[in-house]
Amino acid sequence: MSSGTNQSHSSQPSPLVLESVAKHFGGITAVADVSLEVTTGEVVGVIGPNGSGKSTLFSLAAGGQKPDNGKVWLNGKDVTGLATWKIARAGISRTFQIPSLFDNMSVRENLLAAAVEGDWKGAPQRASDIMEMLEISHVVDNLASELSGGQQKLLEFGRVCMRDPKVILLDEVTAGVHPNIRRIILDAIRRLRDTGITFLIIEHDMEMVREICDRLIVMDQGRVVAEGSFEDIANDVEVQRAYLGRRK
Ligand SMILES: Nc1ncnc2c1ncn2[C@@H]1O[C@H](COP(=O)(O)OP(=O)(O)O)[C@@H](O)[C@H]1O
Ligand SMILES: [Mg+2]
Repeated sequence: MSSGTNQSHSSQPSPLVLESVAKHFGGITAVADVSLEVTTGEVVGVIGPNGSGKSTLFSLAAGGQKPDNGKVWLNGKDVTGLATWKIARAGISRTFQIPSLFDNMSVRENLLAAAVEGDWKGAPQRASDIMEMLEISHVVDNLASELSGGQQKLLEFGRVCMRDPKVILLDEVTAGVHPNIRRIILDAIRRLRDTGITFLIIEHDMEMVREICDRLIVMDQGRVVAEGSFEDIANDVEVQRAYLGRRK
């Protein structure tokens, strides 16, 4: 990629471009030098062993952490190091590995509280549509703390959808959930993808990855060590080394 521009071959800028981003915590290199470009409606899987930098990469993209080096572009706009709410307004939103809900608020209130500024009027209808899509309408008045772990993951996903993002980052959203909830998540990703929303998903469930991802990137020790289709990756020696090799 040439410096100073992120124009892809078409006239539309890419929804998300990471250009040589890096992040260090003291002596630890969480993300070393990662470049990535995703296209509209693409679903990209991010896999790799624990501690390989996947969640930190999401924080660099969504603004929870500032990169020490590199650039983040959203729809052609340089958003590097901007506050999370500004980046959310620019069109990217993420879930967290541990859902960050308001425990003492209802499902409906949790969704409404996530609505972006300027869309208060449309928010109640939007919340209803999202609850229907995620099949949580029957617990609309339950407190978030009363939900099952899987329902909390759905609500976290729903809160992201309330912000009307163009790019959604899902961090292990199916980890430990019931197969029925996994199916709801898979269907929702497909529906949203078909409307042109782009996804980056950190996922350990290889069946899920195979079903939904157009492309995979594999991280190890803060770097992208392989990139390609599910089949490419499944047969890749570096990947097998990352997962099976020298882990303590
Ligand atoms: N806020 C932080 N402070 C210090 N170290 C961190 C922080 N976040 C992540 N790390 C470290 O960075 C590395 C990558 O972590 P992470 O991005 O969470 O990996 P993954 O999501 O792939 O499991 C790990 O060594 C982790 O301990
Ligand atoms: Mg993680």
